[in-house]
Amino acid sequence: MTSTDTVLSLEGITKRFGKLTANDHLDLSLRRGEILALLGENGAGKTTLMNILFGHYVQDEGVVRVNGEMLPPGSPGAALKAGIGMVHQHFALAENLSGLDNIRLGTEGLFALGGKAAARKKVEQIIAESGLEVDLDRKVASLTVGEKQRVEILKALYRNVRVLILDEPTAVLTPQEAEGLFTVLRRLAANGLGVIFISHKLGEVLSVSTRILVLRGGRKAGELVTADADRRAIADLMVGKAVAEVKRTAATPAETLLEFSDVHLRRGSTRESLRNVGFALRAGEIVGLAGVSGNGQGGIAALISGLAVPDQGAVLLYGEPITRADPRALVAAGVARMPEDRQHDGVVGTMSVADNIAIEEVRSGAFSRMGLLDRKAMQARATSAIAAYDIRCPGPDAEARLLSGGNVQKLILARVLEREPRVILANQPTRGLDVGAQSEVHRRIIAARDRGAAVLVISEDLDELFALADRFLVVHAGEVSDAGPSDRLDRGAVGLLMAGQAA
Ligand SMILES: Nc1ncnc2c1ncn2[C@@H]1O[C@H](COP(=O)(O)OP(=O)(O)OP(=O)(O)O)[C@@H](O)[C@H]1O
Ligand SMILES: [Mg+2]
Repeated sequence: MTSTDTVLSLEGITKRFGKLTANDHLDLSLRRGEILALLGENGAGKTTLMNILFGHYVQDEGVVRVNGEMLPPGSPGAALKAGIGMVHQHFALAENLSGLDNIRLGTEGLFALGGKAAARKKVEQIIAESGLEVDLDRKVASLTVGEKQRVEILKALYRNVRVLILDEPTAVLTPQEAEGLFTVLRRLAANGLGVIFISHKLGEVLSVSTRILVLRGGRKAGELVTADADRRAIADLMVGKAVAEVKRTAATPAETLLEFSDVHLRRGSTRESLRNVGFALRAGEIVGLAGVSGNGQGGIAALISGLAVPDQGAVLLYGEPITRADPRALVAAGVARMPEDRQHDGVVGTMSVADNIAIEEVRSGAFSRMGLLDRKAMQARATSAIAAYDIRCPGPDAEARLLSGGNVQKLILARVLEREPRVILANQPTRGLDVGAQSEVHRRIIAARDRGAAVLVISEDLDELFALADRFLVVHAGEVSDAGPSDRLDRGAVGLLMAGQAA
């Protein structure tokens, strides 16, 4: 390889937000055909660096060069023109337009004469070359998350990008979809594209990247060639110390707190139908719900969150049927949930960290004194939660939208767990968390169980379920089967049930 293969270089990039230095004199270079994994703890500065590269943020120091040419800071237009494409942590598609129109939007305008037919031809060719299958005529609103992501990538490729940046692209994908994405990325890299890939999943990083760059506290902690790296070496660079493994002790389940009795639920806009679902969650146990997403998890979560009531059968809380869809009443009754989509129903971005932590309790009447909000108590709660959950932010008054992805997730965990709920719905509890934060969350979920909570963990990550669950349920095509205690199960058996076959 010669230096002319270098398509992108970042030199001495520094970005400060007030007192915080999010990027501290960072250097990075990328060659054609490389897949560079960017790793680091939550808040290490990964997204910030990519936002500078893409012109969303202006760096305080340093330069970005594409093919040797300096990129003007703070200009997304210039970044696009230079051939930099970015697929964000949260998609930016127009839901009411078709995939094809979304791909054209911003490049040529929707009303360009004869544009549509030519565009279709070009996109179809890109699909054939890359393997990014998607129905171009369907409205984006009706596409799955995986399909939306493919539209985002197609949109970038349509603009002839030379560098493609993906910020945690697999956090929202099923394991099968993730494999499909890796095949596409390898193919694109083989054709000369440079790829930067941000992920917290070390297995993925080891399988798809060619080189690994680790950030810590805004600085470069180290760089590895993937072929010479292993999990331990990477984790050590990320956190500067070995990550302790979480030990799960035996459960001592007591009385039933929540029960599904012959539940039927019709399909809704955000959920699948359920048939004949029956199971119980007991105090002091963690039940893992395994399954490929889209098989009924959304329906089960909606019922436990009070967003729906069964069409037939009943969900019983402390022995009493829940008869009304009333999420606040359930929160008040001691049911807590970690929502799957934390950007949409997790936090209010324009509110402070303190307000976001208190919001559910405020609604149910806490933190009020003589009809007024007790701001001091809310501040105190937030300050202790920030310390206990290691939420990296400037303080309780910081707006939640300024937190990094993983730190938003920690905020939600603090809100859920600090109230000592009796029933916990943990939907993808560690999505987007770094390895250290993941084991911390696991430790806390087990601690909640040990003080008597009933926990349902929904996850597609079998490693996570085996780390947490005392017993397994498996959901497939709207039906739930009881797979029994986890110590009598292995991944193969659960995998068969997930695919709808008897183990
Ligand atoms: N616009 C902003 N204003 C103030 N602080 C910010 C802003 N954007 C990012 N930060 C802070 O900069 C730091 C780095 O955030 P960044 O989003 O780059 O982290 P990250 O490595 O992507 O983390 P994660 O893995 O959680 O996504 C965090 O402390 C974050 O709160
Ligand atoms: Mg990020």
